[in-house]
Amino acid sequence: MQNLDAISSEILSAVDAAETIEALEAVRIDALGKKGRVSLMMRELGGMDPEERKAAGQALNVVKDSIAAAIETRQSDLSRAALDARLTAEAIDVSLPSRPEAEARLHPLSRTIEEVVAIFAEMGFTVAEGPDIESDYYNFTALNIPEEHPARQEHDTFYLPPDGDGRRKVLRTHTSPVQIRTMEAVEPPVRIIVPGRTYRSDHDATHSPMFHQCEGLVIGDGIHMGHLKGCLIDFCRAFFGVDDLPVRFRPSYFPFTEPSAEVDIGCTRDGGGLKIGAGDDWLEILGSGMVNPRVLANCGYDPEKYQGFAFGMGIERIAMLKYGIPDLRTFYDSDLRWMRHYGFLPFDAPSIHAGLVGGTV
Ligand code: PHE
Repeated sequence: MQNLDAISSEILSAVDAAETIEALEAVRIDALGKKGRVSLMMRELGGMDPEERKAAGQALNVVKDSIAAAIETRQSDLSRAALDARLTAEAIDVSLPSRPEAEARLHPLSRTIEEVVAIFAEMGFTVAEGPDIESDYYNFTALNIPEEHPARQEHDTFYLPPDGDGRRKVLRTHTSPVQIRTMEAVEPPVRIIVPGRTYRSDHDATHSPMFHQCEGLVIGDGIHMGHLKGCLIDFCRAFFGVDDLPVRFRPSYFPFTEPSAEVDIGCTRDGGGLKIGAGDDWLEILGSGMVNPRVLANCGYDPEKYQGFAFGMGIERIAMLKYGIPDLRTFYDSDLRWMRHYGFLPFDAPSIHAGLVGGTV
């Protein structure tokens, strides 16, 4: 026991010299562990006579306590140093640029609607909107589609449960009811487009139960078929970006327009792929016509005084054609990989809101 002081100072300097928590733990085990040097000396006390044991025991306890205290101090110093080192290493540099993978994409449908709106805005159209849940009157009757008209069957309408009077509202099957709502609300001249959601009970690679249309309506004094043709030819060429795009007006029938015309654009399917703007094939892209005088009268306009034209197009269809998207159902899958491929960076989109006055009728 004579060398107690020497052993004690040796252990205390080992504590001070420990550079890591692990090294310190090794020193602790070597001194105070079950088979540690101090513990072994404690055991030797048993073989001493009582007087000797008392003095040696006290001395050993003092040494043991001072070693334990030194270890504890060293331990908290080392932990603080380790924490400081981690905080320095993991510091966040707020001046670094943000990560590119967080960039958002504009859905091709939003982008297409913005393009359509931008083109018509330049021609002086404003945006109008109406409800998705429509009365039978606005969706059909006022548009010259009476109760027994075959066009009602063709629309695959979603009906809501009957109300108290037995009348069933519908999910609008086209954006045309907003024509009626607008004419009821304002006097001519009218020059609106109506982008919005529409619904039909139909589901395959080119049909979805919810889809988008954009309606157009122009009413004024002396509006004629030439205005309809000029407006829609300009639109098709601007939208598809082909200056000499062939555009064909093919006689058709809609109850709310008379005469009616389907609009086709020139394309070719040679070599398997579809190419818009050249060749001798045709692709139907929208419906149009001169507003039926009965529809004008239904809205309180005098058909002797005012004339106009209307048109309607499917947004998904023109987006698929312009951007080469083969399956309509993928528009609604919310698949991020698809969005990264077909989506647009927001700053690519044209600025369309300048000068536009929207309104809900
Ligand atoms: N509403 C018609 C449809 O959904 C399209 C259309 C609108 C046709 C306006 C002529 C005039 O098919």
